[in-house]
Amino acid sequence: MERLIIKGGNHLTGEVDCSGAKNAGLPILASTILLDGSAFIGNLPHLQDITTKLELLNSMGSAINFHEDGFIEIDSSNIVVPEARYELVKTMRASILVMGPLVAKYGKAKISQPGGCDIGTRPIDFHLAGLEQMGAEITSDSKYIYLKAKKLTPIDFEFPKVSVTGTENLMMAATLIDGVTVLRNCAKEPEVLELANYLNSCGAKIEGAGESNITITGVKSLKADRWNVLFDRIEAGTYLVAGAITNGHVKVNKINPSTINIISEKLIQMGVKVNIDKDSVEVDATSSDLKAQDIFTEPFPGFPTDMQAQFMTLNTIAAGNCTIEETVFENRFQHVSQLRKMGADIVLNKNKASVTGVSNLVGANVSASDLRASASLVLAGLVGKNKTQIDDIYHIDRGYECIEEKLNKLGAEIIREPVVY
Ligand code: EPZ
Repeated sequence: MERLIIKGGNHLTGEVDCSGAKNAGLPILASTILLDGSAFIGNLPHLQDITTKLELLNSMGSAINFHEDGFIEIDSSNIVVPEARYELVKTMRASILVMGPLVAKYGKAKISQPGGCDIGTRPIDFHLAGLEQMGAEITSDSKYIYLKAKKLTPIDFEFPKVSVTGTENLMMAATLIDGVTVLRNCAKEPEVLELANYLNSCGAKIEGAGESNITITGVKSLKADRWNVLFDRIEAGTYLVAGAITNGHVKVNKINPSTINIISEKLIQMGVKVNIDKDSVEVDATSSDLKAQDIFTEPFPGFPTDMQAQFMTLNTIAAGNCTIEETVFENRFQHVSQLRKMGADIVLNKNKASVTGVSNLVGANVSASDLRASASLVLAGLVGKNKTQIDDIYHIDRGYECIEEKLNKLGAEIIREPVVY
């Protein structure tokens, strides 16, 4: 186990490059199951979740090669064990993304029950309802979900609630179903559009991705070309908040600014100067007095739930008070108790947090929980007086590539050390 020790008080300045987006890489890796022959994927971040996904594919029979040029070659055209085992699914629920591709390509799948996680129960009923409507026979027991299908048929399916991986699972399955499938009330996240663009580059016929209704016309086979995964908008947003919270001046490169418009707008409303260029966003908070701003999380293009914790930390030291309402997940306030240990003034009422700005946070020993809550504690440590120790940092490593290296390059003082019991 490892922990981070952060010395607070430095103003961050400089430039940082984004890595590839975890939440785009994970579905694209799963979609290799649909292909005839190898996929060549570049710009994948070096994160535990990506490693876990590659282990999962390998455990099913995919051949994986790491090339000198940074591209990873995945040949999933000879899956012999269409199964996502408990040991892998328990560490990464996005393993469920192999379900749609396996049923569509191999006619069967055995997926460990994903269970909930820190931020909510996270059911997959929409995924299963769609696949069942496509003709999959689905049974389950306490440990596994079993799916089999002789031949899937096209559907017209409306999601009861917007679901990112639900949209991705059904969209992937539909690419090989003869006929026209229509998916309604789909997620519009950039990562969904990225997956569709990738699959279309392989010969799929997907229209409307990024909008509410997606139409997929099935094709006989898919063949990959080389593909670089798009950059991570949540990582970009996190580093912009790091610049803002430390009254610093930070430029984040290699990001498509249109994927973080609402984050840039929120920072401007909080009194931060923001400069947007074609593939970078820059914050200058050197003379900013931060003003508290309400946050209401929604599916894209609304304010992303994956940035809620980071903006809560920013609001804890902003002048005034605000309400942060989490509407996507039912339990995404794990960071509140830890921020309170550092002096934050936060009152919780169901899915609403009322935050009153304080003049400063004070370093403390805190523990990380889910991925984004952990990032919010790192941000708090950057401004907390004295030192902050963050335990259980494996959560952070699931979603942020070399977080302390990138922040130290901007002037932070963060040490990663082993925890010796
Ligand atoms: C994706 O999770 C992301 N993960 C999450 O990022 C992100 O927070 C979330 O979308 C929302 O943007 C990946 O892309 C790998 P949902 P996902 O299905 O797809 C309910 C991170 O930090 N729901 O859009 O699992 C669900 O309970 C992670 O990188 C059902 O009820 O989220 C939730 O309340 C955390 N039934 C809401 O919909 C279903 O079948 C949205 O969930 C599916 C979802």
